[in-house]
Amino acid sequence: MTRRIVCIQGSPRPRGNTRAMAALALEAARRQGAEVTEIDALKLTFRHPGCTGCRKCQASEVFRCTVDDELGRAVATLPDHDVILVATPIYWWSYTAQIKMVIDRMFCLSKFAPDGRVRSALAGRTLALLATGGGALEDNLDLLERQWSIPAAYLGCPFVSCLFPDTPPEAGALARDPAAAARARDFGRRLAGA
Ligand SMILES: Cc1cc2nc3c(=O)[nH]c(=O)nc-3n(C[C@H](O)[C@H](O)[C@H](O)COP(=O)(O)O)c2cc1C
Repeated sequence: MTRRIVCIQGSPRPRGNTRAMAALALEAARRQGAEVTEIDALKLTFRHPGCTGCRKCQASEVFRCTVDDELGRAVATLPDHDVILVATPIYWWSYTAQIKMVIDRMFCLSKFAPDGRVRSALAGRTLALLATGGGALEDNLDLLERQWSIPAAYLGCPFVSCLFPDTPPEAGALARDPAAAARARDFGRRLAGA
């Protein structure tokens, strides 16, 4: 069955290393027959940049943010996919502000019952992370990985990641490293179910 992959792009640099590695992974996934959609977190327009905390989504049966803007509409499409891939550089031991803005709006994709149980519109989807960072894996990219793997478990989603520590600062340089490029392609094929 064709796997539907949605990639949320969170790097502010259009020709940066994160987007270059994500492009390699997504191209490999397409070659395996996956259907790929991209959401560019930097291009989405919004009435509010993140979650307003109004909790109106929790009072509704619909898995959709009640703030009707491009950002909210993009988030509402996430459950239509088999794989939700976040592609981000690590900024200050976390994802970028643009990714955080999308993730906070994902509050509407879970319904939280008073007994603590969670009904997740993403249950069974794979949550995936592709991240680059100028620094090390330890106490750095591994922290970012946990920031996505813990919510994944909470939402009932398998989790996979592809991390690139020690990324050179020059835009696009990582994609010219054959070993790194091969890892990105392997990851893309895995996302496609190969
Ligand atoms: C605001 C800012 C914060 C950063 N924080 C970290 C960090 O906490 N850890 C790290 O390893 N690299 C950090 N970096 C370096 C980037 O993660 C790294 O250069 C990344 O590969 C850039 O991706 P890009 O080419 O897609 O822009 C930071 C860079 C910027 C601009």
